[in-house]
Amino acid sequence: MYSIPFLLAVARVSVVQAVVASSRDGSSETQLTPDAIGDFPAVAFGNVHPTSSTTRPRCKAFPGDSSWPRESEWSRLNNTLGGALIHPLPPGSVCYSTSSNFNAEACSFLLRNASRTTFYQDDPVTILTQWPQGNTCLVSQNPSGNCTQGGYPVYVVNATSVKHVQAAVNFARNKNVRLVVKNTGHDSGGRNTGAGSLSIWTHYLKGFGFLPNYQQPGGNYRGPAARVGAGLQVWEAFAHAERYNVSLPAASCLTVGSYGGWITGGGHSPLSSTFGLGVDQVLSLQVVTADGRYVTANPQANQDLFFAMRGGGGSTYGVVTSAIVKAHPQINLTIASFSFTVANTTSTTPGPSVTIADIETFWKGFNEVFAFGIPTVDAGGYLWTNGIQLGSNSYQMQVQAQMPGLTPIEAASFVQPLLDTLNKLGIPVAITAPTTQVYSSQTGSRGVAPGNGYFASRLFPRSTFENATLFAAAMKAARATVEAGYVFHGLNMAPTLKVAGYPAPAGLNPIWRDVVMHADVFTGANMGALTSAEGAAVQRRLNGYMDALRVATPGGGAYFNEADILEPNWQTSFFGVNYDKLVQVKHERDPWHVFWAPTTPGSEAWAVQASSELPTQNGRLCRV
Ligand SMILES: Cc1cc2nc3c(=O)[nH]c(=O)nc-3n(C[C@H](O)[C@H](O)[C@H](O)COP(=O)(O)OP(=O)(O)OC[C@H]3O[C@@H](n4cnc5c(N)ncnc54)[C@H](O)[C@@H]3O)c2cc1C
Ligand SMILES: *[C@@H]1O[C@H](CO)[C@@H](O)[C@H](O)[C@H]1NC(C)=O
Ligand SMILES: *[C@@H]1O[C@H](CO)[C@@H](O)[C@H](O)[C@H]1NC(C)=O
Ligand SMILES: *[C@@H]1O[C@H](CO)[C@@H](O)[C@H](O)[C@H]1NC(C)=O
Ligand SMILES: *[C@@H]1O[C@H](CO)[C@@H](O)[C@H](O)[C@H]1NC(C)=O
Ligand SMILES: *[C@@H]1O[C@H](CO)[C@@H](O)[C@H](O)[C@H]1NC(C)=O
Ligand SMILES: *[C@@H]1O[C@H](CO)[C@@H](O)[C@H](O)[C@H]1NC(C)=O
Ligand SMILES: *[C@@H]1O[C@H](CO)[C@@H](O)[C@H](O)[C@H]1NC(C)=O
Ligand SMILES: *[C@@H]1O[C@H](CO)[C@@H](O)[C@H](O)[C@H]1NC(C)=O
Repeated sequence: MYSIPFLLAVARVSVVQAVVASSRDGSSETQLTPDAIGDFPAVAFGNVHPTSSTTRPRCKAFPGDSSWPRESEWSRLNNTLGGALIHPLPPGSVCYSTSSNFNAEACSFLLRNASRTTFYQDDPVTILTQWPQGNTCLVSQNPSGNCTQGGYPVYVVNATSVKHVQAAVNFARNKNVRLVVKNTGHDSGGRNTGAGSLSIWTHYLKGFGFLPNYQQPGGNYRGPAARVGAGLQVWEAFAHAERYNVSLPAASCLTVGSYGGWITGGGHSPLSSTFGLGVDQVLSLQVVTADGRYVTANPQANQDLFFAMRGGGGSTYGVVTSAIVKAHPQINLTIASFSFTVANTTSTTPGPSVTIADIETFWKGFNEVFAFGIPTVDAGGYLWTNGIQLGSNSYQMQVQAQMPGLTPIEAASFVQPLLDTLNKLGIPVAITAPTTQVYSSQTGSRGVAPGNGYFASRLFPRSTFENATLFAAAMKAARATVEAGYVFHGLNMAPTLKVAGYPAPAGLNPIWRDVVMHADVFTGANMGALTSAEGAAVQRRLNGYMDALRVATPGGGAYFNEADILEPNWQTSFFGVNYDKLVQVKHERDPWHVFWAPTTPGSEAWAVQASSELPTQNGRLCRV
């Protein structure tokens, strides 16, 4: 239901546009009505101020429990949903000869071809980092053991309307069933899956409407905007943006969901130093809350949700069904790339990819590249780097200065001072013409397949880059990660309050406004091939290297969406001084704890009873 201010504002702008937007909307705005609830109280709405005290079972109902809904109740839920309830097996089940849907040909497709297609994105349960589901039923030529459901959900609502989301939330709350929300499955910490759960799958909420003259209630934003469905992926949002000649900032990987986890968790992009983060794009959210009601959250209405759901984490306060986001002018993204390697075969010819012999020169060059992070972000850019170990005593540094709005000639002259510095050190890098393209015309693989890696990350405040002692310590710690065999992936960006603009206050860690680099440190581990103890050792070893980075970045933190799910002091690291306020919103909006995901505000009250040393979702969810 729209709040009154929102309705008035829409009326003031243009009723015609609003109608066009919703009629183009593939997702329906149809809501759950008293008629549709009928005599099925399991899908009735909740009341956040209950008159009678609610019972508080210690655990969520689990299949096999007497409290688990009966078949007939799931079937009635399916009727309410118009048939959108799925009872899915893990995708790898086709590879297991003891599985009911064993199919060698389908398994061969998964092994050889699926990664080049949208197969996994269109699968209701696939998550792209597998260990959180317990490494059950992995796709394999010669699988050992049987396929079990593990940490995958039991039932999935293939949501195409607000009504579907409302019915799922109400059913889960009324029946004490664990509820999870999955969009594309990119979250790497298992916030998108859960054993014994009902999952709301937002993938087909694909609506899009361009609003050329949108006016925000309160009058603080007037201009182009778009109404976007929560299930749009980057490549789809870009295709719409290109059609209307606008820029919709989004993740670099085309298969990420732009308006699910990305906007609710933060959301960085090559445009972050120019247009801010994902949270800064959002003007209004349509949300189904824990009581099952459909509300508008913006700076005038449901401000608490509008704050919390922009960076305070997804899957914990409600389900976003659609958003209104800023549509920026079309902008070109121009990229100047080069790399340098240290090895025993040298190439002295200047070029975009050179090899040198002196290892200390390599590390001096490594430091100089990061020192160029500040000029890059201050010019509105995004400095993308990878430090990699190629072999014993051989390393490579890959660099891309991604510069929104510059021409190739401007980008070339922008990076020239860095090249001059490197040349003086004895690293003869030169760049050929930087590439340029319209930001939203980016193309690339729309395919994706599950992986099973492990990584951690750190947000670097500007103070680390501006204090010689801290910068030296940070570079030493970064070098140590590469020497230990990790990939150090730096992204220099500065999503300051100035570039964020209206409607700034957001639930994300406020230190983001003073950050000049987010860096991921990737292990080479395949968590599917390791025992639980070995997996835990991978995490501990990595965490030791992260400690040195933490010491060099006082006042820093870690990016909620791309982090170690075992990040120490995650409350402060992910949310900073906003944490208490986020917990308050969680308690007020969801006194039932219908939503739960690891390391979201207030999640400490519950834990998954899993046997693994790492926090998988393969077990019952119980109060602590
Ligand atoms: C290959 C790869 C590249 C990436 N690149 C970037 C990048 O460039 N920039 C960046 O900022 N991040 C990036 N990320 C991280 C990414 O932003 C997060 O994983 C994000 O959470 C993905 O959101 P999703 O909706 O696509 O995925 P999901 O895993 O389906 O969902 C992520 C989380 O959001 C919740 N959620 C999803 N939809 C909703 C909704 N409608 N309402 C409420 N909660 C919801 C889920 O419950 C889950 O907790 C990348 C990740 C990967 C794996
Ligand atoms: C839900 O109903 C649809 C349509 O009748 C059916 O195809 C589907 O199998 C049902 N789902 C479950 C879990 O039974
Ligand atoms: C899978 O890809 C191979 C090439 O790698 C191709 O020969 C084959 O036809 C493809 N199979 C399917 C089912 O797409
Ligand atoms: C796998 O399933 C088969 C048939 O259902 C059963 O006989 C066998 O014991 C199972 N194996 C394991 C390891 O659970
Ligand atoms: C989910 O719903 C969409 C839209 O109705 C449909 O195209 C798709 O096949 C459904 N997927 C599954 C797995 O049921
Ligand atoms: C697209 O937008 C850009 C930036 O505002 C503008 O320069 C260009 O002329 C527009 N192109 C078209 C085809 O309208
Ligand atoms: C080059 O070779 C020497 C002698 O084999 C070795 O000590 C040195 O580490 C090598 N350097 C690199 C960068 O591989
Ligand atoms: C943007 O890039 C395109 C090439 O993809 C080019 O034709 C166009 O001139 C560029 N625009 C600007 C302003 O540089
Ligand atoms: C740099 O940081 C160190 C460590 O936090 C601190 O002791 C020192 O005072 C700082 N130097 C400056 C110039 O701020």
